[in-house]
Amino acid sequence: MRFHTIIEPFRIKSVESVKFTHREEREAALREAGFNVFRLHAEDVLIDLLTDSGTGAMSAAQWGALMQGDESYAGSRSYYRFRDVVRDLTGFAHVIPTHQGRAAERILFHTVLRPGQVVPNNNHFDTTRANVEVEEAEARDLVIPEGRVPSLVHPFKGNVDLAALEHTLAEDGDRVPLVMVTVTNNTGGGQPVSLANLRGVRALCDRYRKPLFLDACRFAENAYLVKTREEGQGDRPPKDIAREMFSLADGCTMSAKKDGLANIGGFLALNDDDWTERCRNLLILTEGFPTYGGLAGYDLEAVARGLEEVVEEPYLRYRIRSIEYLAERLEAGGVPILRPAGGHAVYLDARALLPHVPPLEYPGIALLNALYLEAGIRGVEIGTVMFGLHPDGSEAPAAMDLVRLAVPRRVYTQSHVDYVAEAVLAVAATAPSLRGYRIARAPKVLRHFTAAFEPIG
Ligand code: F0G
Repeated sequence: MRFHTIIEPFRIKSVESVKFTHREEREAALREAGFNVFRLHAEDVLIDLLTDSGTGAMSAAQWGALMQGDESYAGSRSYYRFRDVVRDLTGFAHVIPTHQGRAAERILFHTVLRPGQVVPNNNHFDTTRANVEVEEAEARDLVIPEGRVPSLVHPFKGNVDLAALEHTLAEDGDRVPLVMVTVTNNTGGGQPVSLANLRGVRALCDRYRKPLFLDACRFAENAYLVKTREEGQGDRPPKDIAREMFSLADGCTMSAKKDGLANIGGFLALNDDDWTERCRNLLILTEGFPTYGGLAGYDLEAVARGLEEVVEEPYLRYRIRSIEYLAERLEAGGVPILRPAGGHAVYLDARALLPHVPPLEYPGIALLNALYLEAGIRGVEIGTVMFGLHPDGSEAPAAMDLVRLAVPRRVYTQSHVDYVAEAVLAVAATAPSLRGYRIARAPKVLRHFTAAFEPIG
C-alpha cells in the first residue's frame, strides 16, 4: 500500500474499562503495597506495563479454538494439534507442554544440572537464573560488551560474546551440560540475537559437543528484528527465519504467555530421547500427564493458534513499530533509554536519569514509583533489586538499573502509548527531585516480587 502509517492490524470486538484514580488514591495504594508495584491491586493501575507475559489479547480465532478444547486426560486431540504446530515451527522431535516457561526451565534444569555446573547464556532471565541457582549451579551471562551499555546503538545487542563462550567451554567445558541463548534477550533490553551469532554459538557447541537450547519466549519478535536488521534477511517471511533459529538448536524452553499469544502456557521441546524421557517423568510428578502438562485442553488450542498468528508479518510489523514509536517519542524528549528499542518493551535508563540516587538506593524503584504516582502507569524494575542480591547473601549494583515498560500484545492503542510518552516526559522533568528507597523486608530469593520498601528522606 502507498500509505506509510502503520496501523493496528486488527479491530476491537470486546473492550474492558480501565479505572481512573486520583493522586491521593494512588499514594495510599502504593503505601499499602510497601512501595512495591508488584503488590498493587491491578485495578488501581491505569495502564499496566508491568509485563507482556500472559497479558495479551487473544484473537477471535483463539477464543473460538477454546471451544474446540478436548479435555481428555490422556491423548487429547488438542495435544496433538499443539504438538504438530510446535513441531512444524521448531522442528524438535519431542514436545512437552508445561503451564508456563519457568516450569519448562525447572523440569529441564532439575533433570540435567548437577551442583557446581555452569550454564552459559547471553543473559538469564530472573526465573531462569533462579532455576539454575536452585540446583546449585552457576548461571553465567556472556552477552557482548555492547549489550551492557544502554546508550550504545548496535543492531544485535542480545548477541553472545563468542570469545567469552569459547573461553568458558575451553576452561569449564566439563562442567557445562548445555548452552542457552535467550531470544530476544529480555534482561538485556529485549534485544535480538542475529542468525550469524546463533550460527557462531552452534559452531562452538558442535566443537565442544554441547547441546544448545533457546529460551524462545520472544522468538517471533527476534525473527522480525533479524528480518529488518540483518543483512540479506529482508525478503524472508518471519516464520522462515524463526525456523532457521530453531534449526540451529537442540531444544528450547518457551513461555507461550509471550509469543504464544496466550494468557497461560508453555513448553519444553527437544530432540534428545533420553533427556525427554527423564523430563517427562518429572513432568508427571509436578505438572501432569505428558499430553497436557498442567494445561487444560483449551489452553493447548489457544497456544496452537497463537503460535500461528504470532509469525504473521502484519502483526509483527505493528508490534515492533509500536515499541519503536514509544522509544522515538521518549528519545526526542531527551529521556535516556536503552537503545535501540527492543522487541517488547522500552527500557528507561534509571541510573542515567537519576545520577543522584546510588544503585543501592534503587533508582529504578524511585522512577517506577514516580510514574505510578504521577500517571497510574505500572512498569517493572530490571536492575539492582532484581539482580543485586547474590546467592551468598551479598549485595552489589546490577549491570544496569532499568525500568522496563513492557507492552502487552494487541491490548493498548496508539493513544494509550501517547499518554505513556507524555507521562514519562513529565516524570523525567522532575527527576532531580526523586529520592531513593531502602528495603524494609525482603525474601532471599526473587526478592523483587514481594519486597517492601521505604522512601529515603
Ligand atoms: N525466559 C524469559 C526470557 C522471560 O522473559 C520469562 C518471563 C521466562 C523465561 C519465564 O516464563 O513467566 O512463563 O514462567 N518473563 C516475564 C517478564 C515474566 O515479565 O518478562 P514464565
